[in-house]
Amino acid sequence: MLRVAVLISGTGTNLQALLDATGTGVVPARIVLVVSSREDAGGLARAERAGVPTAVVRPEDYADREAFDLAIDDILRRQEIDLVCLAGWMRILGRSFVERWIDRILNIHPSLLPAFRGLETHARVLEAGLPVTGCTVHFVRPEIDAGPVLVQGIVPVLPQDTAESLRLRVLEVEHRIYPRALALVASGRVRVEGEKVQIADERPGERLVVHPLVLALAAASS
Ligand code: GRF
Repeated sequence: MLRVAVLISGTGTNLQALLDATGTGVVPARIVLVVSSREDAGGLARAERAGVPTAVVRPEDYADREAFDLAIDDILRRQEIDLVCLAGWMRILGRSFVERWIDRILNIHPSLLPAFRGLETHARVLEAGLPVTGCTVHFVRPEIDAGPVLVQGIVPVLPQDTAESLRLRVLEVEHRIYPRALALVASGRVRVEGEKVQIADERPGERLVVHPLVLALAAASS
């Protein structure tokens, strides 16, 4: 059973998706710890409801990033964590932390990486006038929003979309790709080779989730 820690800073809807997926016993992984960088993160209540221990580690309580990262590293090691899932974690983790946990940290990002790294992704997608966007679960590298891609989700952009309506549609798919990514890692079939992810006996489509509207729109436009 894979021992997983989820790191959050906010509402924790992705944390909830991971808790739901692991709570049934179908995915051979257990969330044993939730770490929040803020004491008011809504996700903490989700963890408590699920009976998962929580820790609040606030950057402002540490002299610098190195000290903050070391505090997190210490908690993760004490709990014998195998895999770290960043889920709306709004702190940059330093190079030495990432290197200590290399290929054992996943992140979810609300765009089709490598496009639209950074913040405000949905507003930027709308500004660029694109008909499609999505979300990505990837292994973390020291560079922000970079690293081998594990699973992606495809989401249509609609003419009347605002950044908020698009965010909500992408979030629906985020809640499907993160459990999928965790299940793949927990299955032991995932290997990171250089900057690519290899999956033993990979089936077509295993690393891809599409929003249901994509299929409806494709049918309507063909
Ligand atoms: C998600 O959009 C995730 O992709 C991004 O931060 C947001 C977190 O949302 N990294 P939640 O806290 O999981 O609801």
